[in-house]
Amino acid sequence: MSQPETTVPKTTVYVCTVCRAKDDPEARPGKALLEAFDARLSAEDRAIVTAEPVECLGVCSRPCTVAMAARGKWTYVLGDFDTAADVDDLIESARRYTASETGLVPKKDRPEAMRKGVISRTPPAPRG
Ligand code: FES
Repeated sequence: MSQPETTVPKTTVYVCTVCRAKDDPEARPGKALLEAFDARLSAEDRAIVTAEPVECLGVCSRPCTVAMAARGKWTYVLGDFDTAADVDDLIESARRYTASETGLVPKKDRPEAMRKGVISRTPPAPRG
């Protein structure tokens, strides 16, 4: 008889690196957000969270846009992340998402940038 899986699935934070800044259409702040996020992750965080660049999440009017996903969990798409001001909130959001069995984080428990920035949430992909 096989044992139930107990390993916590790793969270992937996808950061759009081609979003254009609202106040400067030449700027692409997602790359800086991704670099800041990666630089601030602790060794403990790295065991449970990884970050990857992605080119467009289809919500170009809400830069910077990110998505948070993990196997078997709901996926969030979040927007309006400012590179400098919101990176700590993004890391804390990823920690709380990872700690949630379903991926759903109650609004009262979300860091401010996550509370304001939810664009959508999508159920886990179907099995099979
Ligand atoms: S360019 Fe970033 S979501 Fe489309």
